[in-house]
Amino acid sequence: DWIMKDHIDEAVARIREQVGDEEVILGLSGGVDSSVAAALIHRAIGDQLTCVFVDHGLLRLNEGQMVMDMFAGKLHAKVVHVDASDQFLGHLKGVSDPEQKRKIIGREFVEVFKAEAAKLTASGASKNGAKWLAQGTIYPDVIESGGAKSKKAVVIKSHHNVGGLPEQLGLKLLEPLRDLFKDEVRELGVALGLPHDMVYRHPFPGPGLGVRILGEVKKEYADLLRAADAIFIEELRSTVEPHSGKTWYDLTSQTFTVFLPVKSVGVMGDGRTYDYVVALRAVQTSDFMTADWAELPYSLLKKVSSRIINEVRGINRVTYDVSSKPPATIEWE
Ligand code: XMP
Repeated sequence: DWIMKDHIDEAVARIREQVGDEEVILGLSGGVDSSVAAALIHRAIGDQLTCVFVDHGLLRLNEGQMVMDMFAGKLHAKVVHVDASDQFLGHLKGVSDPEQKRKIIGREFVEVFKAEAAKLTASGASKNGAKWLAQGTIYPDVIESGGAKSKKAVVIKSHHNVGGLPEQLGLKLLEPLRDLFKDEVRELGVALGLPHDMVYRHPFPGPGLGVRILGEVKKEYADLLRAADAIFIEELRSTVEPHSGKTWYDLTSQTFTVFLPVKSVGVMGDGRTYDYVVALRAVQTSDFMTADWAELPYSLLKKVSSRIINEVRGINRVTYDVSSKPPATIEWE
């Protein structure tokens, strides 16, 4: 629509004016905010933008490929794809404490990103070296970091954020989504040509599958979880609730699969199995501070369970998480 078009023109003009002919780096995560920021900045300054996409090996199935197809393939943006999965998994080896896992993933993320950014800021890699770091900060982030959140006495989970990075890298900060609410960011994303499914995605935590594999993270576990989770999401996206006409994916706020590193006995054909368990999680919430478990239809749960057990060799039991927040949290770690 026209209002959105004006909004884009205005934002583009502002970015061009701010940046001039200097170069910009942006950390692309595949999430909504960094994706929309990347698309907007790319619209404004094209090849003066370089996106850095750090793959920590804890992404969902085909996620890395999807990000590359969209940004490098369709938008023709410059994207550096860093496959750091071995490095992340190496540092996580033997670590089972949730907070320690979060800290390691956050720290490594900053390390890898800084190393890539350093290459791009040095002259030679680009014309003059990048001078700007772009971030997909949105209005609620601005409020949160100034107010209530920092005063909270008890840290339930440490969130990894990239605060302080621009200073460390000696870069100026570019935050073109700073004044926008989530809904507006999504509308902007669609208007910029990003696919609906990408822009209306459920949130995905920075530490990724690292906090959805309970205890020690192993590649074997991550591969099983990716396969099971893809089935769950596929069924949620394709099952329509008749009264609203919406899919169960759109009727829920966050949905995912959790890998439990315990084995249970099952039977398949004439044989006994002794394999891993997954839990399905689906919640409805408006603010993610409190959340209800979603009353998914039994028929949907039945289909997902049967598909996971038949299609993912190594998982022989599927459970459904019926815990609300509080006292449970949305993620299991
Ligand atoms: P919990 O599990 O605390 O999660 O109920 C609330 C929301 O926050 C997301 N979450 C994170 N997001 N980095 C993020 O960007 C993190 O470290 C992180 N931990 C949890 C979670 O997915 C849910 O939407």
